[in-house]
Amino acid sequence: MAEVVVVENEAAAGRLVAESIRALIERTPDAVLGLATGSTPIPVYQALAASFAEKPLDVSRVRGFALDEYVGLPAGHAESYRAVITREVVEPLGLTPENVHVPNGDLETIETAGLEYEIAILEAGGVDVQILGIGRTGHLGFNEPGSSFGSLTRVKTLTEKTREDNARFFDSPDDVPMHCITQGLGTIARARHLVLLAFGEGKAEAIAAAVEGPMTASQPGSAIQLHPHVTVIVDAAAASKLK
Ligand code: F6R
Repeated sequence: MAEVVVVENEAAAGRLVAESIRALIERTPDAVLGLATGSTPIPVYQALAASFAEKPLDVSRVRGFALDEYVGLPAGHAESYRAVITREVVEPLGLTPENVHVPNGDLETIETAGLEYEIAILEAGGVDVQILGIGRTGHLGFNEPGSSFGSLTRVKTLTEKTREDNARFFDSPDDVPMHCITQGLGTIARARHLVLLAFGEGKAEAIAAAVEGPMTASQPGSAIQLHPHVTVIVDAAAASKLK
């Protein structure tokens, strides 16, 4: 059963998660962080940056693995998750760029990119804490409904709902890629601690389905119910459909 923590607002969630990540890095200077992109984890990264600014910590050995990447964006595109992770995580936190990995969405090498990513995570010893957001479709990473609970890093097709949701990051909705490469639900499940964050009413149904609904591939978020160590951090609106 996931531990559900209802917080006042996004900033409070950010501080809570940042404190536990800071403590992890103090204990384990080469900790492996699982990094989500999108809007949800931003307060976590901001609170961590503030914590490091207030009380510096050696993070040079910290390692990171992003959840996913778009397939086929031109190299260096500002909304590629490689660029987003650099801008929102690596630079503000002062991480060592070579230690932070993002799945490779280049078309030329896409057939082997999933396996290479799985091997890189295994060689790093696995993810200590995986930060997760959830999509309105219930996706974790970009594991859209229908994804197998055992799935590994692979190419997926984004649903129209997810492309609409992510259109806010692009000049035009048509610019949102159709495909992505994402850690699978099985990959995510191997992280030692899952921290799922969600804010706002728009996430309430997905959170209720993930935490309390039947376990089903139609609600990928429900895969968290199989995991022994899950913390769900939500505001009151995102918690509003929990029983
Ligand atoms: C991001 C990711 C997605 C997002 C989800 C929520 O790496 O894998 O699962 O966490 O789409 O997105 P936001 O946070 O923008 O609402």
